[in-house]
Amino acid sequence: MAKKPSSLVDTRVIYCGDNLEQLRKLPDGCVDLIYIDPPFNSNRNYEVFWGETKEKRSFDDRHASTAAYIEFMRPRCVELRRVLKKTGSFYYHCDWHASHYVRVMLDQLFGENNFQSEIIWKRTTAKSLAFSGFPNNHDTIFFYGGGDTLTWNRPFQEYDLDNLDEKTAAKYSHRDPDGRRYTLGDLTNPNPNRPNLTYEFMGHHKVWRWTKERMREAHAAGIVVQPSPGAVPRLKRYLDEQEGRPIDTVWVDIPPLNSQAVERLGYPTQKPLALLDRIISASSNPNDIVLDAFCGCGTALVSAENLKRQWIGIDVSPTACRVMAKRLRDVTSLVEDEKLWKVGRGFIVRDLPWSEDQLRKLPPFEFENWAVIALGGIPNKTQVGDMGIDGRIYPVSSAPAADGKAAGRLDFMDAWYPVQVKQKDKAGRPDIDAFEAMMTRSDRTKGFFVSFDYSRDALTEIDAFFRKSGKVIIPLTVNEILNEQLARKLV
Ligand SMILES: C[S@@+](CC[C@H](N)C(=O)[O-])C[C@H]1O[C@@H](n2cnc3c(N)ncnc32)[C@H](O)[C@@H]1O
Repeated sequence: MAKKPSSLVDTRVIYCGDNLEQLRKLPDGCVDLIYIDPPFNSNRNYEVFWGETKEKRSFDDRHASTAAYIEFMRPRCVELRRVLKKTGSFYYHCDWHASHYVRVMLDQLFGENNFQSEIIWKRTTAKSLAFSGFPNNHDTIFFYGGGDTLTWNRPFQEYDLDNLDEKTAAKYSHRDPDGRRYTLGDLTNPNPNRPNLTYEFMGHHKVWRWTKERMREAHAAGIVVQPSPGAVPRLKRYLDEQEGRPIDTVWVDIPPLNSQAVERLGYPTQKPLALLDRIISASSNPNDIVLDAFCGCGTALVSAENLKRQWIGIDVSPTACRVMAKRLRDVTSLVEDEKLWKVGRGFIVRDLPWSEDQLRKLPPFEFENWAVIALGGIPNKTQVGDMGIDGRIYPVSSAPAADGKAAGRLDFMDAWYPVQVKQKDKAGRPDIDAFEAMMTRSDRTKGFFVSFDYSRDALTEIDAFFRKSGKVIIPLTVNEILNEQLARKLV
């Protein structure tokens, strides 16, 4: 792997923070390809990472939020345009909520003449049947780029030989005895003024595409044939030798992530790798720099890494940054390590809020995620239900033995410890009382509580609860977690 493709900018870095601020730190014209998939409504923190939940909104509501959305996106797109090379490509992923306004904004910023395509990505399942009208079943991806100098590796979709569409089957209607499909191509030259290619071949005096020698060889190899005795010779073009169907702007062949997908991390906004693979392969070359400034679970970064591109990711959510760092470690050969990064073999996450002070300022939902993930647990996605706890830890020792796994036993799923998080200066006795009630109701023997500190009453109650019931509550402070760097060890 190359150490550093650009002296202008660091790559293989995930920046945690608002992309408006992070982008301002990047120099002009430093990246080759930008893909963004911003959340429609960034004000609602909960939905930012975990997905839009309410499809049906009144027109007024929608209009107000569309205007706010464009207002939010415009300065970010200005920055994105600035950091994109003149020869670069820009992809903006959105949907029906605001695609019409986004197109107008992008035309203004990138120039109508640099508009390349509006890609329709069909998700195979409609989003919702809850309202009247046709169910929305596609996303829109706008593609802008600088004209003639654009990097473009035309993507093809391989033909499915067992399930050919009618048009292709009609075109490749001839078959060899072994069933191989072919079509017959013209061998005459469109340019009549080629004396060196003008000769008689198989009884036909014409201007040919190939030299006489090449024609003879191809005929001997059975590739140039006369479709009927005495007919003009033609070229056999085999279907299985074609690159495939050039991919157009309607993409129906990339399914959304289903619940069983191996790559799925559990976030509804996660996009399939195949989608990013297509965009990145088409619009960049190896070692080019790919930027995703709303990178969520890091799909674009994983794709870029797999395709041997350099990458930069930005996300405002510390949870998203930790999730994608773990994903990169798990599914690529990259190590999260500053020293290795410096010699071109690792990646780093910058600007995570690690100080107590920064953690105090996080929105509650982000703080809860941070704490649960720091303990190696799984945050509770719904925030309601699940008995009001914020996450669960599944201890390693609870995994079933190999024979149990083989038999499909899932009883280990019941061995979990609840995690309760309070973003408070001091968790008090009532907080502990509520957690104890939950532990008793759900028959848990051990649980973790995280807060900045605990009142004396709270700690006394934790002891009393243990003496009374034998159940253990472990009170952890944020400071303890930070000092032990638990987040780094356990995520
Ligand atoms: C729809 S998700 C992206 C999903 C991603 N394409 C994937 O496949 O995982 C949008 C992401 O944008 C992030 N985001 C929202 N506002 C942001 C901002 N101002 N700066 C940086 N990231 C932001 C959210 O935290 C969220 O992770």
